[in-house]
Amino acid sequence: MQNFSFHNPTRILFGQGQLANLAAEIPAGARILITYGGGSVVKTGTLDEVKTALKDFTLLEFSGIEPNPTYETLMQAVELARRERIDFLLAVGGGSVIDGTKFIAAAIPFEGDPWRILSEHAAVVSAIPFGAVLTLPATGSEMNNFAVITRREGNDKLAFASPLIFPRFSVLDPTRTYTLPPRQVANGVVDAFVHIVEQYLTYPADAKVQDRFAEGLLLTLIEEGPKALQTPQDYAVRANLMWTATLALNGLIGAGVPQDWATHMLGHELTALHGLDHAQTLAVVLPAMLQVRRTQKRAKLLQYAERVWGVRDGDEDMRIDAAIQRTREFFEALQVPTRLSDYGIGTEAIPALVAQLERHGMVALGEHQNVDLVESRQVFELAA
Ligand code: NZQ
Ligand code: ZN
Repeated sequence: MQNFSFHNPTRILFGQGQLANLAAEIPAGARILITYGGGSVVKTGTLDEVKTALKDFTLLEFSGIEPNPTYETLMQAVELARRERIDFLLAVGGGSVIDGTKFIAAAIPFEGDPWRILSEHAAVVSAIPFGAVLTLPATGSEMNNFAVITRREGNDKLAFASPLIFPRFSVLDPTRTYTLPPRQVANGVVDAFVHIVEQYLTYPADAKVQDRFAEGLLLTLIEEGPKALQTPQDYAVRANLMWTATLALNGLIGAGVPQDWATHMLGHELTALHGLDHAQTLAVVLPAMLQVRRTQKRAKLLQYAERVWGVRDGDEDMRIDAAIQRTREFFEALQVPTRLSDYGIGTEAIPALVAQLERHGMVALGEHQNVDLVESRQVFELAA
């Protein structure tokens, strides 16, 4: 096991009815900016419940944070927050709203152009405190210190991290996820699945407990994911999915182990140029990525085949083939297609995707930093 430092300061309020406890988590007298997306939280009544729970605070609202939140939109919130002397932010929504709110929190006190936080990894030296009410289990953003922001001008989708952008708290009420469209339920399962794979399916590091945690989380997604589509109002199913997605990317299973993330980096370019949902990009890239890198990942692919998919028959190569095939079939069964052609993207699009990777410095990816542009091209070609 590798050395690590692990600290996760986000308080989780988990379960039905936890919205009622929101007020106790926010400093008395705070001037709060509630941030949300395209209006699902208005329709579902979650926004009204939030406002009722916070009736004793000064509340302002900022709506319209889009899926794959954009710098252009978020800067409007930054201006509003500066003008109104906002001192607490509350994100109500999915990963896009929470990521967007993380950027707003860091950009408000930032001196100079806040885009530098993404383009140059400029240090975040302070951030406005914020909390989250999660409505879509997928990204883990509710309990981590990452955010991914898109700039429309330039087609850039870039990530940043800072210890200052952990949410102070997140409310995870599984009943809030009953209204999710099937596409978003499936996206959430695929995204969480690939987060686990990025931290698990590398090379053996004698990290027995991280491996067993990761396998448990993968199995939970395999067992419960399809049920959420079949019986959307099953509390136990939703609760298990919600907590799994959070644990998939809150630092726990990634502590002390090598990490990959190449699938995500290729995926971000597919979103930036072709607008695919984040999880759709992962479903396309992951099976091809595992195929191209099967030699380096051999030991872990065999472990994954046996412990996650129960594949024990055949020689080693057959077992690896079966594990990759089962992974693809799992995504397809959730109605998330796994080929570029399924999204109307032909091989003529690949050079531009590779050029984007180069422009963003994504030239040495993966747990060995040896996924270069040649290999990334092979992955896109195999995903056609
Ligand atoms: O905008 P509204 O109207 O709220 O509708 C949203 C949106 O259209 C809707 N929705 C959310 N909760 C709902 C609901 N509809 C009905 N009922 C509910 N309860 O779902 C749509 C998608 O929402 P979005 O927030 O975009 O989805 P997700 O949570 O999958 O977030 C995706 C974003 O997170 C980033 C992705 O790149 C992408 O930008 N990621 C963030 C990560 C992190 N911070 O650690 C890691 C991930 O790998 C990922 O990159
Ligand atoms: Zn992801």
